[in-house]
Amino acid sequence: MIVRRGRSEDLAWLVDHDDASEDWIGRCIQFDEYFVAAQDGELLGFLRFSRFWGKIPYMDMIRVLSSHQRAGVGTALFRAWEDAMIEEGAQHLMTSSEWAEADPQAWHRRNGFQAAGSIDFRIVQPSPEIFFLKDISGVRGG
Ligand SMILES: CC(C)(COP(=O)(O)OP(=O)(O)OC[C@H]1O[C@@H](n2cnc3c(N)ncnc32)[C@H](O)[C@@H]1OP(=O)(O)O)[C@@H](O)C(=O)NCCC(=O)NCCS
Repeated sequence: MIVRRGRSEDLAWLVDHDDASEDWIGRCIQFDEYFVAAQDGELLGFLRFSRFWGKIPYMDMIRVLSSHQRAGVGTALFRAWEDAMIEEGAQHLMTSSEWAEADPQAWHRRNGFQAAGSIDFRIVQPSPEIFFLKDISGVRGG
């Protein structure tokens, strides 16, 4: 398995497997905001990120095909992203997930994130959105 940045030839697969609009997916590819995992030319999962305040790397979405979950793909995607963010000098990482979804929260904690508060998001979903932070400021050059 390899992990690499998303490219224009991944667009159709990402449109099928991500929740965002085709326009947004195309934009994120253009701005190097996807990592994809591939094996034998087939895509197995993706990580899409943006930047909170235009600065702090924020993992918007990570998804691995259900047939390939719990085989290390998500961890490989996360580490590739984290390494790239450390390399560019980021001090913190952010992400979030819905309070009612215990599995993603456990997975974020496993990757070193700590819960940093929640917002009432009933206007969009039934339970609050919990935000997570990871301090990566000590990692660079270590
Ligand atoms: C969450 C997700 C990205 C994790 O990717 P994955 O490839 O299945 O995870 P990995 O195999 O890299 O997991 C590595 C470790 O985390 C554990 N793990 C995997 N999924 C987990 C989960 N949902 N909750 C807790 N631990 C989990 C594994 O058991 C493994 O631990 P081990 O090495 O001690 O056995 C993937 O399961 C997924 O796409 N889920 C559906 C979409 C989703 O919920 N996305 C997150 C939205 S915020």
